[in-house]
Amino acid sequence: MASESEITNGPKHVAIIMDGNGRWAQARGRPRLFGHHAGAKRVKQNVRACKGLGVKYLTIFAFSTENWKRTQSEVSGLMSLFRQYIRREARGLRDEGVRVRFIGDRVKLDDKLIALMDELELMTAQNDEVHLTIALNYGGRDEVARATKRLAQDVAAGLLKPQDVDEETLPKYLDTYVLPDPDLVIRTSGEARISNFLLWQSAYAEYEFVDTLWPDFSPEEFGKIVKSYGRRDRRFGAVLA
Ligand code: FPP
Repeated sequence: MASESEITNGPKHVAIIMDGNGRWAQARGRPRLFGHHAGAKRVKQNVRACKGLGVKYLTIFAFSTENWKRTQSEVSGLMSLFRQYIRREARGLRDEGVRVRFIGDRVKLDDKLIALMDELELMTAQNDEVHLTIALNYGGRDEVARATKRLAQDVAAGLLKPQDVDEETLPKYLDTYVLPDPDLVIRTSGEARISNFLLWQSAYAEYEFVDTLWPDFSPEEFGKIVKSYGRRDRRFGAVLA
């Protein structure tokens, strides 16, 4: 696997759309949840790989605002997997220096899960090795709408003037306000869509769509993509001399 010293100009913030758990399970004649459990193991390995790859921020799409439309048994299975993941991994994440944050709208999540999320955020709040952000009940449009609502409330309360609202102001109201924008967005499973993920934040991100299904996405493949990013010519719309 790539070592940090080999990676120059690597992405500091990588966001991943972890897709393909269902197809991975189906190919093995197993229920979809079997694929999600295998996906959770890959989350663990790939989070661990970040430090060696020089990836300081990793943001993963675990559950979208659209995912509620899945069957009730898949949704409750996923919610129980998230609870399990937090319970099982909390200490390891804390001890490995990972700071965990959650983004997305919490209102639809159950109280037990919210309490675990709060606890994990709190117990890793002093960490700074790797910043893991888990998007749960997250949708980019929903996030912008919620941000705009809060911004409008501040305008109504006289805390902000309409003429002061600009590209610097709005992101302060987004769930990701403490994070840098992603440099690289990876989507697994061969679909070339961004599916409402980090819409505002990914304006200048590079995209990498790979055919691998998420439960097969190894730290080695992750490392190769991170290394190839360093070789890209990124100009942010400018022509560099
Ligand atoms: C998409 O695959 C995946 C999800 C909607 C869930 C992502 C969840 C995990 C990777 C599990 C663990 C996550 C954490 C943070 C513990 P899909 O079901 O849409 O696959 P398909 O397109 O093949 O049906």
